[in-house]
Amino acid sequence: MASTLFHGISELRTVAEAGTLHDAALIAEGGAITWIGEAAQAPVADEAVDLGGRAVLPGWVDSHSHMIFDGNRAEEFEARMAGQDYAAGGIAVTMEATRAASPERLRALLRERLAAARAGGTTCMETKTGYGLDVASEQLAAQIAAEVVDEVTFLGAHVVPPGAEAEEYVDLVCGEMLHAVAPHVGWIDVFCERGAFNAEQSRRVLEAGKAAGLGLRVHGNQLGEGPGVALAVELGAASVDHANYLSESDVEALAGSETVATVLPACDLSTRQPLAPARRLIDAGVRVAIASNLNPGTSYTSSMNFCVGTAVLQQHLSLEEAIEAATAGGARALRRHDIGGGRDAQGRPAKGALVVGAAADLHVLYTAHAIDLAYRPGMPLTWRTYVAGERVA
Ligand code: NIG
Repeated sequence: MASTLFHGISELRTVAEAGTLHDAALIAEGGAITWIGEAAQAPVADEAVDLGGRAVLPGWVDSHSHMIFDGNRAEEFEARMAGQDYAAGGIAVTMEATRAASPERLRALLRERLAAARAGGTTCMETKTGYGLDVASEQLAAQIAAEVVDEVTFLGAHVVPPGAEAEEYVDLVCGEMLHAVAPHVGWIDVFCERGAFNAEQSRRVLEAGKAAGLGLRVHGNQLGEGPGVALAVELGAASVDHANYLSESDVEALAGSETVATVLPACDLSTRQPLAPARRLIDAGVRVAIASNLNPGTSYTSSMNFCVGTAVLQQHLSLEEAIEAATAGGARALRRHDIGGGRDAQGRPAKGALVVGAAADLHVLYTAHAIDLAYRPGMPLTWRTYVAGERVA
């Protein structure tokens, strides 16, 4: 196996104990980091890549997206900008377009979207089903997603499809649909919100997923206070996502748990919701992740650079906190983070931090300083992206 020395790094954000290193270098071999430190101390490697005095961070770990869809909802968005509220009704519009698309088209769209995310520095991507909402379409979405992205989540419980009866639909999700998607997915999710699924229905979905061996995730507290966060914590979900409207007891419950609160700043802007209280969560000791929530209804962007810049500018996170949330935080939300020796709980190279043993997933900026993510918002800042030491963008 050839080793590659990456040098010419002005600022190396390890998102680990070593903090930020200057004039740094690292060596990748077999997809993982085998050495990291000051460039002057670097051992010899088979090949060398000069990054030209740029800033390097771990690739973004985007732990929440809905990338398998066809169609777009520009009209709905324009109406929202003219004052209409977001109420999730548009999910059925995307469902129609997605059901009408061929498998080849869905696969091509997904690959295009993944390529765009990588071009923006994302090296690990979760995506959800949830625009099929019948057995065959959910199964197809799960299968295609499993071919293309790192982590796949079953979201049959996105909304009750038009014409279906809620309890019968929950039976379907927990029975035949779950059985059909299970070979392709690692996670189950539910949209626990007024207008989608109530606490009892959400519990049924999550418990069925758990019994099938899946990890749990919850869409909760997006449009108002509700039972999503409490349920996620009670059932040991890896993450509860959105978390815009939180009671004091929600924050306390999260702080005393392993459940990550995943905030989705691009979605909050697009839906004109108050930005999720990421500052308050971090101050309370909650583990926070930042994700893109790429989808055609509430967040038509995979730009993690934009999300991180927004978290600094508008949610009052320090640059270090925002980078941590979008790398190690996302990895924690997917249970892909380092538990020692740079490996995750399954012994795979961990994601979201640059330490020996972890994946050589690198996000190289054009510039020498990572603060440009907030200082120069909207500028094309990603120069190159490497996954497991290989250049992908
Ligand atoms: O995470 N909130 C639920 N699901 C998506 C939006 C779905 C849509 O409107 O298409 C979200 O924001």
